[in-house]
Amino acid sequence: MNTRLSVRARGIGKCFGDVVALDGIDLDVAPGRVHGLVGPNGAGKTTLLGLLLGLAAADSGTLEILGTPVGRTLDAPGGVAGFVDGPGLYPSLTARQNLAALAALRGDVRANRVDDVLDEVGLTDVADDRTRGFSLGMRQRLGLAAALLAEPRLLVLDEPSNGLDPAGKRHVHGVLGRLAADGATVVLSSHRMDDLEALCDEVTILATGRVVFSGPLDKLAGENRELDYRLRTSDASAARLLAADTAGVRLVDDAGSRPGAAEATVVRAATPALDDLVARLVRAGVAVRELTPVVSPLEAAFLALTTPQEDGG
Ligand SMILES: Nc1ncnc2c1ncn2[C@@H]1O[C@H](COP(=O)(O)OP(=O)(O)O)[C@@H](O)[C@H]1O
Ligand SMILES: [Mg+2]
Repeated sequence: MNTRLSVRARGIGKCFGDVVALDGIDLDVAPGRVHGLVGPNGAGKTTLLGLLLGLAAADSGTLEILGTPVGRTLDAPGGVAGFVDGPGLYPSLTARQNLAALAALRGDVRANRVDDVLDEVGLTDVADDRTRGFSLGMRQRLGLAAALLAEPRLLVLDEPSNGLDPAGKRHVHGVLGRLAADGATVVLSSHRMDDLEALCDEVTILATGRVVFSGPLDKLAGENRELDYRLRTSDASAARLLAADTAGVRLVDDAGSRPGAAEATVVRAATPALDDLVARLVRAGVAVRELTPVVSPLEAAFLALTTPQEDGG
């Protein structure tokens, strides 16, 4: 038993018939962290989060939640709250009534907590509207409010930013940040890397039921791989000639991919070769007006780790 970790999973396996959903998952999440679980559809994110919530039991491996070993029988571990596959709500009840009903069922919810959590997720103005008419983003925020009712020490959220507009994202971001600052732990999932950049400082990347990366985001982004960069200069043809002539830099044919991008060139390179190219451009009197990754370094790392190789290796 390790009381210093909120989640400690070792060798977790879970099958649905012939489908191996989780294949030997190790996961460590320390208190006070917002940990992202990211992977393509079908990677196993919802299955793993369901195990943390006690909605299903693993077939193999060991799991400790908040320092307590989870057995093979179904049981919601104490101090854990959240949802998978979207929050369950009564459409004919208002937001406030949904939360009050849940609070009554739980029995361990402080007075005024319903109003507090509505305020925290930014739904006070629509608290007395029936949830039938709620957008996906509003439903997600109400689901988060429901999970916050009992002041969990481990909050588990499945794809919480689906359907959120920028204001909704800001609210959710603020709520999760405050929880983590208070020492609670958040584990959330997304199929999009860019969602997690704003919310998490560490991620576990799943691909077909296996962990392909686990650690801080900057470690993932810092892995020095080749990326595509859009290069705009004062002299496109000179830039193309120099790029083609610089070791480690390749021209990527991107002609016509963007209207008005005529004088932009896309080059593929790792950072040292890119540095060489920029130095050569400047020496040749070619001004660099734009040099940006076509996809973010994190997204590129995510795609490289989760896209099956064509050679089957
Ligand atoms: N209840 C279930 N019955 C059968 N197969 C399931 C069930 N839940 C998940 N799976 C399968 O397990 C794999 C992982 O699914 P899931 O955890 O939902 O992935 P994700 O949330 O990353 O999209 C998929 O191949 C999915 O089809
Ligand atoms: Mg899922």
